[in-house]
Amino acid sequence: MIETIQKHRQDFDSRICSTSVAEPLKQLRIDFLGKKGCVQALMKELRQASPEEKRQQGKLINDFKQYVENQLKDKEEELGKSPKGRPSTGATFDTTLPGRREIPGTLHPVTQVMEEIKSIFLGLGFQVEEGPEIETDYYNFEALNIPKDHPARDMQDTFYVDGEAVLRTHTSPVQIHVMEDREPPLRIIAPGKVYRCDSDVSHTPMFHQIEGLMVDENVSFSHLKGIMSIFLQEVFGKNTKVRFRPSFFPFTCPSAEVDIQCVICSGKGCRVCSQTGWVEILGAGMVDPAVFKFVDYDAEKWTGFAFGLGIERISMLKYGINDIRLFFENDLRFLKQF
Ligand code: PHE
Repeated sequence: MIETIQKHRQDFDSRICSTSVAEPLKQLRIDFLGKKGCVQALMKELRQASPEEKRQQGKLINDFKQYVENQLKDKEEELGKSPKGRPSTGATFDTTLPGRREIPGTLHPVTQVMEEIKSIFLGLGFQVEEGPEIETDYYNFEALNIPKDHPARDMQDTFYVDGEAVLRTHTSPVQIHVMEDREPPLRIIAPGKVYRCDSDVSHTPMFHQIEGLMVDENVSFSHLKGIMSIFLQEVFGKNTKVRFRPSFFPFTCPSAEVDIQCVICSGKGCRVCSQTGWVEILGAGMVDPAVFKFVDYDAEKWTGFAFGLGIERISMLKYGINDIRLFFENDLRFLKQF
């Protein structure tokens, strides 16, 4: 009897293993558990056995019957879930799992700040202009009143492309292009990439600037102060204190460095502002008459102011970022925060 059961079990195992469609599974149930199935046949055989044998072998038959039932149930469940008629791989698909979501991109923080600054100046009546990133020595230096061999060239570490061409070190050459092409009155800003041979926590070889230029009759330093104050209070908040310090640029006279009260410590003094309570934010000044000469503007008739600011620097102060290189490593953990 034991051997017969073992044989049936082997037979059952090999048939259920190769079953992959619901229909043959039914046949398997009939063959093993049906009225004329092998379990019933075993029961019939048992009738002739002695009471002692009945107890022992009855248990074996029941165990086998239970085993077949469980196996059939599992297999039915498995086949029921897989697409109809298609062979099951055994792997099941959990329909309750959440779907994979598309992660939408966002604008780079530098682009966001650039757009914000542009819209402030557009609101003040300025137009957006662009200029080339590869400039001639003339536009980057000469026409901005920085003659060859003048020590002022040391202020900017230049990438020289070849003899006359350089990667622009600032957006100021756009001033020259615009004034060559147009007559005053002018109110323009020029955003774009600039390049300097420089690299540390607060300098990268490429960064972004926005240049500003306003030329008209009777434009004075007060206009410059007014426009800069409005702009900085828009970006950093209404209560931001602004300060003008005398400075030097070859293309503006008088020149100023514009500071805001440190946004990190509110003027108390911290590492960011080197304990001074103020941080430098941009360079500006009245257009030097020498520059007007290069573009054939009548310096007796026209006056103007110009300014230049670094976008990364403003973004760093606005968001409390302490290393400029983070902007260009493109680590999503950093970029996702904006
Ligand atoms: N071009 C100057 C710089 O990059 C900034 C500046 C622009 C200063 C316009 C005065 C006027 O440092």
